[in-house]
Amino acid sequence: MRSTFSSGIHVAIIMDGNGRWAASRGLPRLSGHRAGAEAVRRTVESAPALGISVLTLYAFSSDNWRRPRNETAGLMKLLARYLLQEADRCVANGVRLEAIGRRDRLPAALIELLEETERRTAGGDKLLLRLAIDYSSRQAIQDAAAKGGDLSQHLGPDVDLLIRTSGEQRLSDFLLWECAYAEMVFTRRMWPDFSGEDLAAAVEEFQRRERRFGAVTARTA
Ligand code: IPE
Ligand code: IPE
Ligand code: MG
Repeated sequence: MRSTFSSGIHVAIIMDGNGRWAASRGLPRLSGHRAGAEAVRRTVESAPALGISVLTLYAFSSDNWRRPRNETAGLMKLLARYLLQEADRCVANGVRLEAIGRRDRLPAALIELLEETERRTAGGDKLLLRLAIDYSSRQAIQDAAAKGGDLSQHLGPDVDLLIRTSGEQRLSDFLLWECAYAEMVFTRRMWPDFSGEDLAAAVEEFQRRERRFGAVTARTA
């Protein structure tokens, strides 16, 4: 199943800075999250043309439950709205949507929408869009270890390029195993301002890097 999407690169994005984007405009944090959903749309749209076949977006971390209830509830509503509004477009554009993370703590309506969207988009073969919701990489690794055998079999594909917006430079419990050899690009851009051009610039930067995977290459010999 994964091999359908192995032709391009796997880009993972920590979409950070919605709150600061809103605060700098005197708006409530949820306005930042709403604007962030627009940036998700733009990013998904521009990904295939940049040679991206797998896109993993960090939408809500398990630690994000520590935020005020009105913010977490608002984020859950926004996620549901995104799925409602984007499912048709995903089907039309060959985008296969898959959620990673815990489901048991999400609102029932959101779980239903996730399952329905996963079903409806299952035939997509242009882009695998993985939405990390109530996601903790440590938890995912622990769950994989409990299953036994090769952990990679139970976890997602290796990340080629990891992007984090907003100037922070940390992983915040995102894809710890899968980022073993990921190239990292940190940008000061706040997530709601992130554009297709920013994504293209990050991919260009990635293509200039030399990945060695521990070996000696022509450039280092
Ligand atoms: C990222 O933006 C979105 C989520 C974590 C859900 P933040 O909400 O973390 O924005 P900042 O970091 O407070 O600016
Ligand atoms: C990580 O961002 C989670 C998401 C982007 C969904 P946070 O803003 O929650 O991370 P910290 O708290 O700054 O590390
Ligand atoms: Mg943040």
